[in-house]
Amino acid sequence: MAKLIVSDLDVKDKKVLVRVDFNVPIKDGVIGDDNRIVAALPTIKYIIENGGKAILLSHLGRVKSDDDKKELSLKPVAERLSELLKKPVTFVPANEGQEVEDAINKMQDGDVIVLENTRFQDIDNDFGKRESKNDPKLGEYWASLGDMYVNDAFGTAHRSHASNVGIAEAMKKADKPAAAGYLMEKEIKFLGDAVANPVHPFVTILGGAKVSDKIDVITNLIPKSDHILIGGGMAYTFLAAQGHNIGKSLFEPDKVDLAKQLLKEADGKIVLPVDNLAATEFSNDASREVVGDDIPDNMMGLDIGPKTVEKFKEILKDAKTVVWNGPMGAFEMSNFANGTLEVGKALAELKDATTIIGGGDSTAAAKQLGIAPKITHISTGGGASLQYLEGKELPGIACISDK
Ligand code: 3PG
Repeated sequence: MAKLIVSDLDVKDKKVLVRVDFNVPIKDGVIGDDNRIVAALPTIKYIIENGGKAILLSHLGRVKSDDDKKELSLKPVAERLSELLKKPVTFVPANEGQEVEDAINKMQDGDVIVLENTRFQDIDNDFGKRESKNDPKLGEYWASLGDMYVNDAFGTAHRSHASNVGIAEAMKKADKPAAAGYLMEKEIKFLGDAVANPVHPFVTILGGAKVSDKIDVITNLIPKSDHILIGGGMAYTFLAAQGHNIGKSLFEPDKVDLAKQLLKEADGKIVLPVDNLAATEFSNDASREVVGDDIPDNMMGLDIGPKTVEKFKEILKDAKTVVWNGPMGAFEMSNFANGTLEVGKALAELKDATTIIGGGDSTAAAKQLGIAPKITHISTGGGASLQYLEGKELPGIACISDK
């Protein structure tokens, strides 16, 4: 059933609690990538432009001790949000208690406040990890601060924590709405619906180091996909399963039988590299050469080769839906980035196709290439996008009210 969306809510004069995923890279108070903050703007703007008060909750990093608190405060994020919104944003250095309640009571329509990192609740008290263990009392407390709740934190949707799931359950219990934000709506539309019911031909591209990270994605997507193109380190376990020599390439010996089984199940849909760029060691400057699908004993495959790039492009050119997760090689080293960059370019050139990218490395590749604007949807989720592609129900989505 369709989920309640923020645009279904009459937010005027209302205190709207918004769970965002502002878990962004920060070093010495400087934000490395503000993509997740930018992605939350449409929801925040809808609320404040329609006369609501936006009270934002997010986690940042993994808080283990008091020492982590300085580096993991959301203060720099609130400052960046203020720049992006071009209006003042109040940062409250707490997420529970009088200071929080006073700040909320003072809010005018159109105001935005950011509460301190919800995971400070994992260390600040005698009750254990209140946020990460989804202490119902904490969810109830946060729910009591607002009139309505919006979950826009797709990146956190695979977690069942007090600030995303507990709060939603408490809102619903109190007969208050728990809606999805615009970002959450977009992620559901593309990573969920477009992949569950794809327009064919549907091509899945998978890469990254390990087969073990992607087993459930492959299993879920075999029946839906027309082709599954596999590159990256995980390709070598599949090539080994086919009896090829893989030299010193990355390899999971305990996954060879599984790879055989997946190849059988896929019945020709899985397409493996026919050539590889191999090197003598894992180094950008290592001596390298293009080899076929058998890798010499003293070498390791670090990228797909030119014939594989052409083969993948040929398959991609007719695709109507493409989902891509994981690089085609060790793309962080410039000499082994070609396969990943060529796949990215091929996606960007597709006309009339829905193209979806999930996962940090493929997203980084898309950015490096400057093709992000040509991709239909780049997910803000890491673990969440992977679990969604596995076909799992994510607790942070399940808890949102139906329309
Ligand atoms: C992420 O970056 O994947 C999400 O923000 C979740 O963070 P976590 O893995 O620390 O729960």
